[in-house]
Amino acid sequence: MRNPVMLSAGILGLSAPLLRRVYESGAGAVVTKSIGSRPRSGHPNPTVVAVDCGLLNSMGLPNPGVDEFSEEVRSLKRWGVTVVASIFGEEAEEYVEVAEKLSEAGADALEINCSCPNVREVGLLGQDPGMVEEVTRAVKGAVDVPVFTKLTPNVTRIGEVARAAERGGADGVTAINTLRAMAVDVETCRPILSNVTGGLSGPAIKPVALRCVWEVAESVEIPVIGCGGILTWRDAVEFLLCGASAVQVGTAIMYRGLGVFQEIIQGIEAYLRRKGFGGVEEVVGRAHGAA
Ligand code: DHB
Repeated sequence: MRNPVMLSAGILGLSAPLLRRVYESGAGAVVTKSIGSRPRSGHPNPTVVAVDCGLLNSMGLPNPGVDEFSEEVRSLKRWGVTVVASIFGEEAEEYVEVAEKLSEAGADALEINCSCPNVREVGLLGQDPGMVEEVTRAVKGAVDVPVFTKLTPNVTRIGEVARAAERGGADGVTAINTLRAMAVDVETCRPILSNVTGGLSGPAIKPVALRCVWEVAESVEIPVIGCGGILTWRDAVEFLLCGASAVQVGTAIMYRGLGVFQEIIQGIEAYLRRKGFGGVEEVVGRAHGAA
């Protein structure tokens, strides 16, 4: 990666031309929308609603299926884009099938989404350390590229789930996926999302995400990728200090546009200069007092 600021999964992630635009706007790598073994239309509308300090969505994992999406990955690689493919399944065999096909298509790394809050089978998997370990081990055994396991904050002890991913052979963990939440309309007197609950992202979840990155960094030796409510370079540095080696940015694009990547990257560079740090690695985990 040319820099440690990636596009997170789920935002602008279903088409090669859009992902290329994000990469050209400065992202160090792009993560795709989560891809499964078969085409899937997702939940009926409304699936997205802007709430105070964030975005609430219950898309239901819509995607064209791995065979069609492999062509998008091939296009991205022809254009020189560093691409992390996000994958999901209902059991280990489905993850393996998708992982094999997307790494074959040229994905530089894989991110295991075992933590979608909106599709019961996928969300439950990520709350069970035994399943997280099993899926991670199965995917790692099937591909040669780095594998990151994305963790849900919707558990009591995220450090234990991170350790399960590490035991399964993960090269890194991404923390965090969205928080389960809901919104209600006082005029219709009904929940706004068709699925009732959804995943909350954006600035509202940043303090939760920082706490999770902190706990995960104390629990595992493998690298942590920080994600959740990063809008500015200062937010990104907070994640690095808590132990993230790289960060992901998604919902911020809704607030700041694609210029957000350059803003964050240049802001981190200026911070490193001002503080006299030789590089990002001198900041990673520093809040733990280890550096
Ligand atoms: C969806 C998946 C996620 O992993 C998430 O955090 C939010 C929404 C979805 O497609 O419904």
